[in-house]
Amino acid sequence: MSTAADTPAVEAETTETTLPEYLALRGEPVEFRAMIRQVTFAAKKVAAELRVAGLQGMLGATGHTNVQGETVQRLDEYANAMFVNNLLRNPAISDLVSEEIRDEMHMARHNTGEYALFFDPIDGSSNLDVNLSIGSIFSVRRTQHVRGDGRTQIAAGYVMYGPATVCVLAMPRHGVNLFTYDPSIGEFLYTRGPLRMPEEGSSYGANEANYRSWSPRVQAFVEWLRGAAGHSTRYSGALVADFHRILVKGGVYLYPSDDRNRNGKLRLLYEAAPLAFIAEIAGGRAVSEDSDILTIVPREIHQRVPLILGSATEIDHFLPRGGR
Ligand code: F6P
Repeated sequence: MSTAADTPAVEAETTETTLPEYLALRGEPVEFRAMIRQVTFAAKKVAAELRVAGLQGMLGATGHTNVQGETVQRLDEYANAMFVNNLLRNPAISDLVSEEIRDEMHMARHNTGEYALFFDPIDGSSNLDVNLSIGSIFSVRRTQHVRGDGRTQIAAGYVMYGPATVCVLAMPRHGVNLFTYDPSIGEFLYTRGPLRMPEEGSSYGANEANYRSWSPRVQAFVEWLRGAAGHSTRYSGALVADFHRILVKGGVYLYPSDDRNRNGKLRLLYEAAPLAFIAEIAGGRAVSEDSDILTIVPREIHQRVPLILGSATEIDHFLPRGGR
């Protein structure tokens, strides 16, 4: 008769556990692990390229604009190619959506593929030429939920290229965990988690040059943050970096609608929804001006939304009484 003592204990992760090992320990299927390995492979190539981009003439614009009408940087193109070329090889992925590609890529030869992957290869490109933090964002859904709301995501994460390159991965069953890239062995190693976003923070991030064209409600919220709430401003111009601060220290990030960006600036499928998903699993929240980000059903793949994202206390204060 077998006893509990015979059952092998699930090995606990340590700071020597690599990201693929972590996912294997947690019982994630081999196809899912392969996909995350490909995402992080692309991120490792981007991290390596960023270190020498200034020496190799890889900074600056390509001279093209993308589907959103934004200037494409050489590194946007490089990172997009790294992601697409790697992910195309995975038969478990049937659909890819990238910020840099006009249409969704449906892989006819992968018709039975289980997963759809959405990604922004380089978030915060305006930080590239000045050597500040940038990121890559990704989100995974089952193929049948490609056009579903944000709650149909099964995993989401980002890689932040800062003084250290870190990967944050959120999955409902495992929480939000942080892995740090160790270039000496070429692996992301488990560092800590599950992370909880503090219930309240002491800073907010927003492009305040747009203040005059925000709605009175958003203006009043920012007045409260600056005044009664006593928050400082922290804004880097890269969503991933600003979000990472809030995930770790609490607070709120906002990019509401304004005169130039009538529907907000950030893209629902590969910016707002993945970060909202991570925030919610960590105990935070994300709303557009009038609805929960995770309940928005996309009308099109590059749809933009206003985004107010962060700790429970700050988001509660923003919401009208009925939305709390
Ligand atoms: O496109 C996304 C993005 O670059 C975010 O990373 C960042 O938070 C935001 O746009 C910055 O916009 P702005 O330059 O208008 O402040």
